[in-house]
Amino acid sequence: MNYLNGKQILLGVTGGIAAYKSAELVRQLRQSGAEVRVVMTAAACEFITPLTLQALSGNPVHVDLLDPDAEAAMGHIELARWADALLVAPATANFLARLVAGRAEDLLAAVCLACEAPVAVAPAMNRAMWTNTATVENIATLQSRHITVLGPADGSQACGETGPGRMLEAVELADGLSALFQTGVLAGRQVLVTAGPTREAIDPVRFLSNHSSGRMGFAVAAAAAEAGASVTLISGPVSLDTPPGVHRIDVESATDMYAAVMQAVTTADIFIGVAAVADYRPVTVAKQKLKKQAAEVSLQLQRNPDILAAVAALPDAPYTVGFAAETESVENNAQLKRQAKGIDMIAANQVGNGLGFNSEENALQVFWGAGEQQLAVTAKQKLARQLTEMIATQFQQGLHQGKVLKFNAKDST
Ligand code: PMT
Repeated sequence: MNYLNGKQILLGVTGGIAAYKSAELVRQLRQSGAEVRVVMTAAACEFITPLTLQALSGNPVHVDLLDPDAEAAMGHIELARWADALLVAPATANFLARLVAGRAEDLLAAVCLACEAPVAVAPAMNRAMWTNTATVENIATLQSRHITVLGPADGSQACGETGPGRMLEAVELADGLSALFQTGVLAGRQVLVTAGPTREAIDPVRFLSNHSSGRMGFAVAAAAAEAGASVTLISGPVSLDTPPGVHRIDVESATDMYAAVMQAVTTADIFIGVAAVADYRPVTVAKQKLKKQAAEVSLQLQRNPDILAAVAALPDAPYTVGFAAETESVENNAQLKRQAKGIDMIAANQVGNGLGFNSEENALQVFWGAGEQQLAVTAKQKLARQLTEMIATQFQQGLHQGKVLKFNAKDST
């Protein structure tokens, strides 16, 4: 499965003859749907020009550690934060040794140190250099630090020798990189996610709705699938592609969403309600288009079913996670919502400040039991992966304790 679609991949290129293959790698990554930015060492620029990689990636190539054009003049931090994953290909023996030593004397080494996203290296060197004890020990050290080593392959080498040390081909590297996103923390679990807005019909052409784009919910569904879960996504009307490996059910109104959730939830281990469900719907829906008449008209509304609360109240309820869209008193309102709906975890976002609804980025304050964690502003995809890890951890802890972590109404949170 290709998990690179929509991912932000930072490609580091170091100074070895295999650097010529980096051009094909950039092309391959972009073909897989990733956005690619490239950082080159000075030695890499001797083998392939930054212009080539700029043309192929569609982004300027970064070479200098001290970059006056970077925001706050800290290009290495910005690039490290931007990346969903960092791949150094080719990674020379010298660069691997520098990585082990934690040196930060050039841009790529500094980015590697600053990067909290998954890091992979694709070694490329002469076979004797690869089997040298120094390199063998360096590789073992990097692996013990959870850096993934992709390759090398065995075969004929640029130096005329034959043996291990060839950089993997672009397709193999893209596959290896894609696998980094498969964390497996929800392997074997069934996850049900709601996303997007609902539409509450007034007449055949008009409806009540909200600004939800579905991005946050789709990102959560994608992250759960990458984590190994079998994911069903129940979505209101949005214009987004279904994430790979996700089973999608489209609905319109809150009552449609309620019915679809209640049918699908029977097999779910985890329910995550990200949808912005309309709290009310018109009491009557006009059969024909309403005509313009009086200067003022009133619309009588009735309450929609609360999907999240209904799921949490099921006798065999899944681990239940809600979202809270708040414009003020975020923590207090979110905790009250968690209590009122009887759910296990709530992810609160402040909306109306350019974040939350219909934005590429978001920030979350997550509350469960006696725990809480802040997730800083970042792309919704990245945020969804962080949230998924937290949900998996709390879900597993609940299983180990042999109980479902239901909110205890007596809690003073
Ligand atoms: O879709 P995007 O543009 O990416 O925007 C993301 C988002 C802002 C919609 C998302 O991050 C978010 O906050 N989703 C919840 C929005 C919301 O309706 O919040 P609420 O505070 O009104 O509802 C609280 C919870 O109850 C939510 O989990 C909601 O799904 C659920 N709910 C609400 C009403 C209802 N009738 N049934 C429900 O299940």
